[in-house]
Amino acid sequence: MDPTVIHEALLGWYDRHRRVLPWRARAGEVADPYHVWLSEIMLQQTTVKTVAPYFVAFLKRWPTVGDLAAAELEDVLRAWAGLGYYARARNLHACARAVAAKGGAFPSSEAELRELPGIGAYTAAAIAAIAFDRPAMPVDGNVERVVARLLAVEDPLPRAKRRLAELARGLTPQDRAGDFAQAMMDLGAGVCTPAKPRCILCPLAEPCRARGSGIAEELPARSAKPQRPTRHGVVFFATRADGAVLLRKRPERGLLGGMTELPTTEWRGHAYPVDETMALAPAPAAWRTLPGQVRHTFTHFHLELTVAMARIPDTLPVEGSWVAFERLSDEALPSVMRKVIAHALKATARS
Ligand code: ADE
Repeated sequence: MDPTVIHEALLGWYDRHRRVLPWRARAGEVADPYHVWLSEIMLQQTTVKTVAPYFVAFLKRWPTVGDLAAAELEDVLRAWAGLGYYARARNLHACARAVAAKGGAFPSSEAELRELPGIGAYTAAAIAAIAFDRPAMPVDGNVERVVARLLAVEDPLPRAKRRLAELARGLTPQDRAGDFAQAMMDLGAGVCTPAKPRCILCPLAEPCRARGSGIAEELPARSAKPQRPTRHGVVFFATRADGAVLLRKRPERGLLGGMTELPTTEWRGHAYPVDETMALAPAPAAWRTLPGQVRHTFTHFHLELTVAMARIPDTLPVEGSWVAFERLSDEALPSVMRKVIAHALKATARS
């Protein structure tokens, strides 16, 4: 396949149909590296729709990387609440400080970018391409899918990952690499979608080998996933007379690192009998186990949580901190913990 044909078709389409996104430069202009970096960190594992208002708010409050570097970490974490994974916000702040310490200019090569906190292979390639027009290709699931279809790679993921990344890099143009990367993102998001690809609108329909063979929707193939195990835990919804709820912070490292949670037992392979549970509670109290369970699926396991509730006397020392009920939404609570709170509130409304 002639890459020039792909470049022309895709870039022409991008010029006509590019999405308007708050971090994008206007056509023909190169984006500000600070904007590109900030958006790419926010977009790690978060959707474009969620990120847009946060991006605008961050820029308004911290217009330059120097402003962000000078901010208090706590303020950055608070502004980040709702984007998930606080480790990313900490790295964001650390990265801003590292860049500001070197004069406030982001490096332009993938290798130098990767040395900065929070910047991995994907983000380094995205910044190098979008902010500096370096010939680099950020490869995520969308790009893997476009390439698997375009070149009819039938080898299943995850085994085909490296090959798809190499093929994607092989398509990168020397000129307008940033637009090309963003065009791949837009194509994957709106046209070459996982289900029901809209081939009729696709600028690459002609050269697309999978479409030619009628197998576009079947690609990329995936090896059967190993079954996820189920883990069990008990979460403690402790309230004070004034309605405050007991929260604590998860360890920085590991699953949901640094996020806030309701006190919970360890999540293990078999269920907790009630008498064992009480000994693990954050304070001695008349714990009441709520009917039903909260279910949540993580990448590597399903989780089933039992929720126990109790009113704790104000004077009892506890591990963690009391947060006013009205302030819960300001906390960095992961979805699973939001589900627990909703479950507990539903049970109290019934009783
Ligand atoms: N996903 C990751 N980076 C992106 C970007 N710059 N534009 C749109 N979607 C993205």
